[in-house]
Amino acid sequence: MGESKNLWGGRFTGKADEQFIKFNRSFSFDRRLFAVDVRASLAHCEGLHGAGVLSDDEADKIRSGLEEILRRGTLDAGYLDEIAVEDVHSFVEARLVEIAGDVGRKLHTGRSRNDQVSVDFRLWLREEIDSISQLVRAAQKALLDLADAHSSAIIPGYTHLQRAQPVLFAHWCLAYFEMLARDCERLGEARRRTNVSPLGSAALAGTSYEIDREGVARILGFDSVSRNSLDAVSDRDFCVEFAAASSLVMLHLSRLAEDIIIYTTAEFGFFELSDAVATGSSIMPQKKNPDSMELVRGKAGRIFGHNIALLTMLKGLPLAYNKDMQEDKEAVFDIVDTVSASLEVTATVLGNIRVREDVARDAAMRGYMNATELADYLARKGMPFREAHDAVGRIVLRAIERGVELQDLSLDEMRSFSNLIEEDVASALSLEETLATKSQIGGTSPARVAEALSAARASLRF
Ligand code: ARG
Repeated sequence: MGESKNLWGGRFTGKADEQFIKFNRSFSFDRRLFAVDVRASLAHCEGLHGAGVLSDDEADKIRSGLEEILRRGTLDAGYLDEIAVEDVHSFVEARLVEIAGDVGRKLHTGRSRNDQVSVDFRLWLREEIDSISQLVRAAQKALLDLADAHSSAIIPGYTHLQRAQPVLFAHWCLAYFEMLARDCERLGEARRRTNVSPLGSAALAGTSYEIDREGVARILGFDSVSRNSLDAVSDRDFCVEFAAASSLVMLHLSRLAEDIIIYTTAEFGFFELSDAVATGSSIMPQKKNPDSMELVRGKAGRIFGHNIALLTMLKGLPLAYNKDMQEDKEAVFDIVDTVSASLEVTATVLGNIRVREDVARDAAMRGYMNATELADYLARKGMPFREAHDAVGRIVLRAIERGVELQDLSLDEMRSFSNLIEEDVASALSLEETLATKSQIGGTSPARVAEALSAARASLRF
């Protein structure tokens, strides 16, 4: 492995400490920016050419050198291991000088690694945000497919994890769909502020060459150029925003995972996971464990950690660039990998859930979840709701004493609490009626849910 020279020859007479050299290096991880570093270098080459810094011939040589580096680095992973360098920027420059000769040394004119690393990271992240957004949409689609596969299933809805009111299973699916829809919006917002070109900010003060910053930005597909060079080289808000949006994606996946985990327990029994996404135990032969969802739930913590690490790293840094900022890479890389894998696994799990509709329906009919219905029934017949609530509370107490559900009490027994109760109470207490009455926007009535499902499909444009 060849050792390349430092990027800062002249001022230094002493040798750097070996331990420190290692500590200072980022190439083991920032090599992920290899392709974007070359692309940004190609665009900068055009900027220098346009500014008259590079002749036609020089620009040609640099261009074809960079293209060759990209080709070799893409085809042969070993190409990146052949020389020991500090970071990806020094790697590309060293290779360029090797291929193009001295003219390669001109490429760094009007540029600093400070604007270079920022432009690279923004280019890279922009594309990753796009693919994560696609994965979010794929998970949303998996939720809709699951809802469609069990379109008439009913499950108990909970508050405080106590049975509350029945809901359509599809309504539960759509709740997670909504969370992910907001996540997609947030990722899009983060992308918008990521897609700004800092190139031309140079070290901190801006460049003294007549580089057409906007032209260079257009080559790279940026929407605009940064307005302040000091800010541009020290801004990592875009990383924090991405980490925050990712934290919410993971938070939502983690809540979904938790619901799936409890619904697959024998105690709930609403879901069964297929063997494809469950594991067994090395000692207990009967076990089927939802490891896939537990890992997603567990990994959420890692992402929150990265989010806090980024904020803490940036807090209190003086303007402009500081080496602390190199710590942004591993955090963001790990977020991208972890969130992508979690979204993929979640979509797969959703495709491997069988809803035990009979068990869920049975549970939805028990636990006095139609008590609110009975109170509403009395309120509709003219009893003030507070009074109705109290009367139904007493009816529930009676049913508990008898060990039966509300619908099992005889009409006479019910009427002993209020003579507003009539024959029609039976249908009012039915599961069908309970759902059908929740017919305002956002409610769980079958008609509303069908409407929401098709709106959701349309929003995905699948
Ligand atoms: N590896 C550095 C980073 O990730 C690149 C920028 C280095 N700039 C500098 N002036 N040392 O932040």
